Amino acid sequence: MIKDAPLHMVDLKGQYARIQDEVDQAVLDVIRSGAFIQGPAVKQFAADLSVWLGSTEQKPIHVIPCANGTDALQAAFMALGLKPGDEVITPSFTYIATVEVIGLLGLTPVMVDVDPQTFNIDPVAVEQAITPRTKAILPVHLYGQCADMTAILGLAEKHGLHVVEDTAQAIGSGWRMDAEADAFSMAGTMGTIGTTSFFPSKNLGGYGDGGACFTRDVALAEKLRMICNHGSRKRYEHELIGMNSRLDSIQAAILGVKLPHLRGYNEARRAAANRYDDLLDAHPLVTVPHRDGRSDHVFHQYTLILGEEGDGPERRDALAAHLTTSGVPFGIYYPKPIHQQGAFADLDAVAGALPVTEDLTNRVISLPMHTELTGDLQVRIADAVRAGLSS
Ligand SMILES: Cc1ncc(COP(=O)(O)O)c(C=O)c1O
Repeated sequence: MIKDAPLHMVDLKGQYARIQDEVDQAVLDVIRSGAFIQGPAVKQFAADLSVWLGSTEQKPIHVIPCANGTDALQAAFMALGLKPGDEVITPSFTYIATVEVIGLLGLTPVMVDVDPQTFNIDPVAVEQAITPRTKAILPVHLYGQCADMTAILGLAEKHGLHVVEDTAQAIGSGWRMDAEADAFSMAGTMGTIGTTSFFPSKNLGGYGDGGACFTRDVALAEKLRMICNHGSRKRYEHELIGMNSRLDSIQAAILGVKLPHLRGYNEARRAAANRYDDLLDAHPLVTVPHRDGRSDHVFHQYTLILGEEGDGPERRDALAAHLTTSGVPFGIYYPKPIHQQGAFADLDAVAGALPVTEDLTNRVISLPMHTELTGDLQVRIADAVRAGLSS
């Protein structure tokens, strides 16, 4: 009975069932070819993704695949040649990887607050945090919606800064640069470098780890390619210190099968988000995700804010307990700001207080979001949310 079907936070098996023959064939082709590392499947996928992102002969977008989204961020900052002590402004309300690479490279993360409606980095806070040591801004397009790239690119130009866009959660999302713009600029292609992740649960996910950098700068593209391959462009010649960070051919082949479906996948997520809105928007304790009209949201996550500003985590804890007993999965992205994580305890890495971030970490909860969600499943989920909020 459908009523009793298990619910999933992400339904990778259901999605695979629709493309199984193609995926199986693509994987077999790689295995039979023996070209597991830097094989034709990787080159083909990079070329296809670049076209998908809007690359043209006049304005090419270079795609540099690598092993995961964290490495993509690391390679980006290595390619920019930032030095220890250089400051990078980034949000604290994000996944650890964003800030981790800044610390790993000996750069100084300067964490600022986010907008309480969009969850994305607040450009006013960015401007206030700029110092003579600032070298880059690292916005995160959180949950699938673009940060205010008009403001961020404006600040970057004014102060001569690089912009690295963390697009791990927002591939296919877009940003309207100004009110007159009739087209969206693709997330990850607006800054100096864009990075993304192909972690299985991402909007374009492989069946293992994967990631990529995007850039319009041909010299940076060449450097990124070298960095991801031990600083080398010619076998046993190493011009730079690099990494072993390559997308493997099997993942590239799977991603190549999934790429033509990405627009449809993002549409399915948007449709599911709209259905959740209809089911939950009227609830007095729930704030449904705000749509910034300038961004084309791709709903990597569908995240509710519970209760009122300043509320502690108790209401969410009660809801979480109810959802668990009801068999409804959920996620809390993120329960603790990065600036309060032990890994950053030694760093004076916060530009002032971050009240919005701290408040959101007590009140956000994400509901199942994937390409296989149906209205029936969502009614069950929304009923459980309502019941959990009244208990
Ligand atoms: C915002 C953000 N940045 C970076 C990453 C890192 O990606 P990966 O897990 O592929 O290393 C993730 C992954 O969850 C993410 O959500």
